[in-house]
Amino acid sequence: MKYVQGPLVYEGKAKKIYSVEGSDELVWIYFKDDLTAFNAAKKGLMENKGVINKSISDCIFKYLERNGVKTHLVEDIDSRNQVVRKLKIVPLEVVVRNTLAGSTAKKFSLPEGTPLREPLLEFFYKNDELNDPFINDEQAMMIEAVNSLEQIIQIKSLARRINFLLTQFFDAVDIKLVDFKIEFGVTSEGEIFLGDEITPDSCRLWDKHSQEKMDKDRFRRDLGRLDEMYLEVLNRIQKKWGTK
Ligand code: TMP
Ligand code: ASP
Repeated sequence: MKYVQGPLVYEGKAKKIYSVEGSDELVWIYFKDDLTAFNAAKKGLMENKGVINKSISDCIFKYLERNGVKTHLVEDIDSRNQVVRKLKIVPLEVVVRNTLAGSTAKKFSLPEGTPLREPLLEFFYKNDELNDPFINDEQAMMIEAVNSLEQIIQIKSLARRINFLLTQFFDAVDIKLVDFKIEFGVTSEGEIFLGDEITPDSCRLWDKHSQEKMDKDRFRRDLGRLDEMYLEVLNRIQKKWGTK
């Protein structure tokens, strides 16, 4: 089916969202090269990041779909563009951690790299003005980020299932999935689908053997070799999963 890109409806930090001509059920996503961290206090650019991240995210979303996870992905248009189902985004950044790192390591003054006995699930309220604060289930209900306890239960269960699948996906390419952030949305029929993206911008990925960081922490922490590492993630994934 041929889709025609409509007008710009929203520009985010890493993506632009356009409408799709003649459809209220779909939107068009363009992956940008912009890099931001710390709520856009730090800005940068990586040439071709949009192309690399779009390919990584496509490959992951297709893998999740093959494993029964409903995602927004509809059509892979070209190297920077995809058509997805329009969702009413649940304003929660759902973070799952397998190994301690980042904000939670800092919060408890524990060393990064500490393995967690069970995956740890956290919610952050998606609100740039408030700097995406940590919230719990009851606060999520209070601010009406979700409309029922049932939705919270569904989101948690989906996030844990996605963590299980993604851990295997990355382990097969010798990458340790330390943690990641995902977003969900509700369809016009009221069903919860996985939205947004899954890329080295939104995950912590460490080489299984060297523990070298292969994700956006290289930009956040000025570690260099960012493009080399993003490309390495893509190459490993494509080699193992690309043709499936
Ligand atoms: P954190 O340790 O900073 O809370 O980050 C947890 C995970 O979520 C990490 O993989 C990076 C990702 N993340 C985002 O995708 N967007 C964000 O705005 C933040 C703060 C983290
Ligand atoms: N996603 C946030 C930003 O783009 C923060 C981060 O990933 O560090 O500013």
